[in-house]
Amino acid sequence: MSKHPITLTINDQEYSIYVDGHHTLLQVMRDQLNLTEVKYGCGRGECGACSVFVDDQKESTGRKVVDACLALAATLDGKKITTSRGLGKDGQLNEVQQAFVEESGIQCGFCTPGMVVKSTALLEKNPKATEDEIRFGLEGNICRCTGYVKIVDSVKKAQKVMSKKRK
Ligand code: FES
Ligand code: FES
Repeated sequence: MSKHPITLTINDQEYSIYVDGHHTLLQVMRDQLNLTEVKYGCGRGECGACSVFVDDQKESTGRKVVDACLALAATLDGKKITTSRGLGKDGQLNEVQQAFVEESGIQCGFCTPGMVVKSTALLEKNPKATEDEIRFGLEGNICRCTGYVKIVDSVKKAQKVMSKKRK
């Protein structure tokens, strides 16, 4: 099986590696790079547990979130990836992560990395998202534990904190 040389920058760290052509970004991050904060849920784009940002440019549509289980790593040479671990700065959680802690949006925690990535993207794109828009924005992310109420509360709390910081 031929290997492809690629360079990925993940959470500001550069990795120059060889990957199998059929390996997904999720397989490479978890199995080759030991970045296990990115979770393997369904492996077929249905649960959102593996959500990561690809590239950092902010467009009108916000940063691009990708299901790492659906993206072939070999096609991502030169890309910048941000996982949930890379969302905070200087050892501080970002507003969404902090709100998930404060509002008990985390129970077993399996869905949380994908949830915070998707929620961060959602609030970047639509800072004034209504509750319905938050629920719609997160509908591709599955949680087996919380019943979603605490997760939505967490996103609303983060929204308030972010709004105050903008003033
Ligand atoms: S593991 Fe990727 S969407 Fe479920
Ligand atoms: S907190 Fe357990 S799956 Fe969401």
